Amino acid sequence: MLQQQTIDIIKATVPALQEHGLTITKTFYQNMFRDNPELLNIFNHTNQQQGRQQTALANTVLAAAMHIDNLQAIVPTVIQIAHKHRSLGVLPEHYPIVGENLLKAIKEVLGDAATEDIINAWAQAYGVIADIFIQVEEDLFKEAEQNGGWRLFKPFKIVRTEVESELVTSFYLAPVDGQTLPPYKAGQYITLRMQVPGEKYLMNRQYTVSEANNQNEYRISVKREEDPNGIVSNYLHSGYEQGTEIDVSAPAGVFTLDDSDAPVLFVSGGIGVTPLNSMLQTIEERDVAFLQCARNKDVAAFTETISAKVEEIGGTYKALYSDVEGFVTKEQLEGLLKEDSKVYLCGPAPFMSHIINILRDLKVPEENVNYEFFGPAMAV
Ligand code: HEM
Repeated sequence: MLQQQTIDIIKATVPALQEHGLTITKTFYQNMFRDNPELLNIFNHTNQQQGRQQTALANTVLAAAMHIDNLQAIVPTVIQIAHKHRSLGVLPEHYPIVGENLLKAIKEVLGDAATEDIINAWAQAYGVIADIFIQVEEDLFKEAEQNGGWRLFKPFKIVRTEVESELVTSFYLAPVDGQTLPPYKAGQYITLRMQVPGEKYLMNRQYTVSEANNQNEYRISVKREEDPNGIVSNYLHSGYEQGTEIDVSAPAGVFTLDDSDAPVLFVSGGIGVTPLNSMLQTIEERDVAFLQCARNKDVAAFTETISAKVEEIGGTYKALYSDVEGFVTKEQLEGLLKEDSKVYLCGPAPFMSHIINILRDLKVPEENVNYEFFGPAMAV
């Protein structure tokens, strides 16, 4: 338990953190990777370059500071991040490294304003927050090991591929040890960790398991990236050599379908269709509407699988191609919503923000809106 005085100091420093939060975390990452370059085998280098991870960490630290006297409030966020950490193999021994560098960065950026009392208060607060993460993550590690699962990574190989659209190809990954795969929930993701030729550090990427209920293989469906940041995507699409082993962690993530019988509306943007298609395939009987958005017909993946499944369960399917019809409108979404619809969204950040704003306009209760997009979750 933190003392009241410590809590007061933490709360009083929130404005300064808000002002300098991003600079603090940037300094933090620079220092941490300079002194602990081995951590670059865990972190996503592209996120670092684009500053996305910095924002995510800064936001979380601020959220923690704001709720320091009621950390229960951040538990749902912690669980979501802990899934990502577990899937990447973040371990308890990594926390002191992060903590030490965070405090050093606070000192460096705030200068004289960072008094000993402030630094001590943050050291204590970080310890409390880190303990919550470590505990939640240990539970997730244990869970991953159950039912024939595994704790960290295990070697897989790509056993076959299937072209889904002009841009998207599915890769089927089978464990090298030939063991049956433990059950997972539709919508969950796996982390692939690999040595890409020419790269100094291991590369890690999360991909949705794009097929529900397969006990022998994980299917991932990967978009070919046009920019140089798609190192892993490009490697899978064109550089992968048959037989090369790729380390894979057990499925993780909280973006999964609720088990109520309320109407459900899926709204996907581009490659964000993968978790939603996976969830849809698990439905036997439910009122379903599926709005699949993509640039055009040639790049849209799984259109036939989705429309066939929706037809089978008597739902509504609409493909919306922005090259032809532009972006989703309020009227279109309104037409697909029922009272109490549970909405599942997945796509790029600007797409998600657009849809979320419309849903707010339409007064859809926040608790009925579930989303995930590709990249650190805090950016929406
Ligand atoms: C209390 C301390 C920590 C906080 C508040 C925190 C916060 C976060 C947040 C908000 C995200 C983004 C989640 C998402 O993308 O869904 C994240 C991702 C991540 N965290 Fe942490 N984290 C902490 C400790 C650590 C530690 C100790 C490590 C390991 C050294 C670590 C490694 C990562 C990695 C590798 C990612 C994935 C994003 C990327 O690769 O750029 N974190 N963390």
